[in-house]
Amino acid sequence: MEAIRISAARRALGGQFVLSLSRSWVCRSCRGLPVAFRQFSRSQTTSSKPYYVTTPIFYVNAAPHVGHMYSMVLADVLKRWQQLKGKPAILCTGTDEHGMKVQKAAALEDMAPKEFCDANAAKFKALAQKANISYDRFIRTTDADHMQAVEHFWFLLREKGLIYERKHSGWYCVSDECFYPESQIEKRQDPFTGEVFMASMETGNKVEWSEEMNYHFRMTALKAKLLEFYAKNPDWIVPATRMNHVVDWVKNHLEDLSISRPRERLSWGIRVPDDSSQTIYVWVDALINYITQAGFPGWTPGREMEGGWPADVHVIGKDIMRFHCVYWPALLLALDLPLPKQILSHAHWTMDRRKMSKSVGNVVNPTFAMDRWGVDTMRFYMVHDGGISDDADYNNSMISQRYKKHLQGGIGNLTGRIAASKSWGLPEAVGSEGAKFEGLTRFGGLLMPIANKSFQQLFTAHHLEMASVARTVGMRMQKLDLSGALQHLMDNVSRTNHLIDETAPWALVKDSGNPESRELLHRVIFLAAENIRISAILLQPFMPTKAAEVLDALGVSEDKRTIEYAKPYTDFDYGSPIVPIEKGAWSGIFPRLLEG
Ligand code: ME8
Ligand code: MG
Repeated sequence: MEAIRISAARRALGGQFVLSLSRSWVCRSCRGLPVAFRQFSRSQTTSSKPYYVTTPIFYVNAAPHVGHMYSMVLADVLKRWQQLKGKPAILCTGTDEHGMKVQKAAALEDMAPKEFCDANAAKFKALAQKANISYDRFIRTTDADHMQAVEHFWFLLREKGLIYERKHSGWYCVSDECFYPESQIEKRQDPFTGEVFMASMETGNKVEWSEEMNYHFRMTALKAKLLEFYAKNPDWIVPATRMNHVVDWVKNHLEDLSISRPRERLSWGIRVPDDSSQTIYVWVDALINYITQAGFPGWTPGREMEGGWPADVHVIGKDIMRFHCVYWPALLLALDLPLPKQILSHAHWTMDRRKMSKSVGNVVNPTFAMDRWGVDTMRFYMVHDGGISDDADYNNSMISQRYKKHLQGGIGNLTGRIAASKSWGLPEAVGSEGAKFEGLTRFGGLLMPIANKSFQQLFTAHHLEMASVARTVGMRMQKLDLSGALQHLMDNVSRTNHLIDETAPWALVKDSGNPESRELLHRVIFLAAENIRISAILLQPFMPTKAAEVLDALGVSEDKRTIEYAKPYTDFDYGSPIVPIEKGAWSGIFPRLLEG
């Protein structure tokens, strides 16, 4: 059944495949050259290149867990951040469906591989939708355009003389979908069953001996180029500390890569062009997804970048560093294609300090977690507490703690205090005080003296901090420090809550017959409102729904929610909530948790 489908896809591809080789998708000056010697045009200015961020494409061997959601959320925040800045941006996520791992999982379920993939891919897609991931494409490696891209890529490698056939013997790990050298293997014993088996030292997963004829990619030919690239781009991998390991591996362990498996072992995959006895190695197949989405190989000469390639960031887990930081750049360098600009590699979510994993089964179902805590609370928790350098242990009581401190007690409380108080009106405060600030520059707030010296000091400090929030958050985002950016926003919110505690506007209300007190009251409310407005604008990429609710409560119009407005005194037209709020009886944006 599956073989029929693949050959049908190949037949459908047949005519087009030849056509796409003669079609010039490479730069004009290279057209006369044999296809393997053409180059990606670099004449294009980058202005029409959208920002392009990706997640790994996930194996469909089992249902997703919060680790997968984490990579998706990081990528989504990066994309939405660019959009906030007004830049077109693309996010690609999806599923990795071929290979032994999936073939075995389908067989265990007694299902045809494609049927099995359809069912599990739908779960990953549903996760992306539920988590509010603004993906532009959910790519599946069984998609026809992807299979065509992989065949084309293979053809180009072969044309360049970078593929050869030889006998391969080694230890294959189905769980990790890769061969390990003898030096990386050890004997292990299953603590439960007592079974003794050979395993990868790195992952602890079982390996099997295999001897077979495979096609190989001459990766060693790229060694010098890879090392040169790493040396020139020390910031390519975030966090930079992971670069050493990659460089060390390339220096000491780089070998030619086996890039096919005999069909009798692995039938579920893309056939090697012109040799249907071999199936293309799943990692070669999978990595190419990133350029399939960007339009490879149908790129129009001179306009290749319009599809987004090179990617700005590949978000990945640290478990798949070697594939993304060695194999992938080697494959791209082999074809003179540009390399992704950065790799954001994150650490793992653990359960009782053990990596959460589909194969182990110690997982948290992200759908249940979002039902329990809310989509944006989970997004917040994952970005705030997720580990980039170090693993993070998943912890429900921590989610509850974060919710109470930062969301309910932080931004939620602050919004309620300012927008839903019976004691003062936000429109009046923005109207009367705002008018005085209109047209002032960044330091303008300092020029708005008030007679009360201690208040003046508080306002000045508050103003200075508020004026620098967007810049600090922007710098952290630039460094791909999403957690740091979010923490800065939360610090800012908590400072604003303190401003209110210290200035006690409820006391000023009692004395509001006095014009000075009234002015002070309005100034406090206005400055706090400005801070919420700015914070909520900047929070949109992290918590799109809740940030919008905050902005709605303040009455900030839809067209004034971009980064230009994340500065003090850039909008004086807000104050009346978009959806009316019943003052004093509002349950707020972050209601109390049921468990108290
Ligand atoms: O490796 N904590 O797919 P995969 C954090 N198909 N993130 C985690 C995680 C955890 N405990 N577990 C998984 C594959 N992830 C290949 C990728 S890409 C061309 C092919 C996330 O289903 C993390 O991003 O095993 C990790 O790298 C990825 O899921 C692995 O997913
Ligand atoms: Mg995995």
